[in-house]
Amino acid sequence: MKVHELSWSIKGTVIIDGIVLHAPHGKITGLLGPNGSGKTTLLRAVARLARADRGAVHLDGSDLARLRRRDLARRLAVVEQHAGTDLDVSVLDVVLLGRTPYRSALQSDSEQDRRLAFEALAQVNMAEFASRRWNTLSGGEKQRVHLARALTQRPALLVLDEPTNHLDIAHALSLLALVQRAGLTTFAALHDLNLAAMYCDHLVVLREGRVVAGGAPHDVLTPELLMDVFDVRADVGRHPETGRPLLTFHPPGVVVPS
Ligand SMILES: Nc1ncnc2c1ncn2[C@@H]1O[C@H](COP(=O)(O)OP(=O)(O)O)[C@@H](O)[C@H]1O
Ligand SMILES: [Mg+2]
Repeated sequence: MKVHELSWSIKGTVIIDGIVLHAPHGKITGLLGPNGSGKTTLLRAVARLARADRGAVHLDGSDLARLRRRDLARRLAVVEQHAGTDLDVSVLDVVLLGRTPYRSALQSDSEQDRRLAFEALAQVNMAEFASRRWNTLSGGEKQRVHLARALTQRPALLVLDEPTNHLDIAHALSLLALVQRAGLTTFAALHDLNLAAMYCDHLVVLREGRVVAGGAPHDVLTPELLMDVFDVRADVGRHPETGRPLLTFHPPGVVVPS
């Protein structure tokens, strides 16, 4: 996936400005940046949930802006940060929404649709929730079901906005491991920098609506960048098992003796 000079503004205020990046095929690209740096706006513009002022997004050579909605939904699935669905429907119904782009308005769910939906629910460890009412789920359970819905869409590009923000650490790790196993081109805003270091193949860092760094985790996550962009003092070590960068943060205001 390639983003060319993408910009979005509202009422004259530029929120993201001339974004250029690529997300390698079949890999996880993490989108990092402080609160308000434009991550959600960028993901929404990529997914055509917001209409960019200018710029383009290409996926496997085709311009996403030129696709019909239905074709877009076959190529790209999104899990939004505040995924609000207050409908009185079952969990299985929510996952089956992922099959909508593959059938006509008059068709009902096929056996195959239901099989794919159950498979995806099992992948996110939510199989036993299939007949539960959607609005009785916790935030974390909803987040896992939304990922199941997105996987059921069989997209080429998976766009995730803070997919682990409601999850405990075990569920966060297993969700990212699942996304990794799925092998889809994934573009995900993540807050936890250590999780990003562990699961992302490529990182893009935003500050005030512009890309300020991009590359492999060990090239991007340096003490200088963490100070510069996130305003935190951090040491960057090496994870004993994965060899990925491992960040240790220092409490603000504590002077480290040199
Ligand atoms: N619809 C909107 N109207 C006004 N300001 C907006 C709108 N959407 C986003 N913003 C502003 O754009 C900035 C970036 O927001 P956002 O993309 O949500 O950042 P992030 O996801 O990195 O926290 C914030 O300052 C936010 O207040
Ligand atoms: Mg956001």
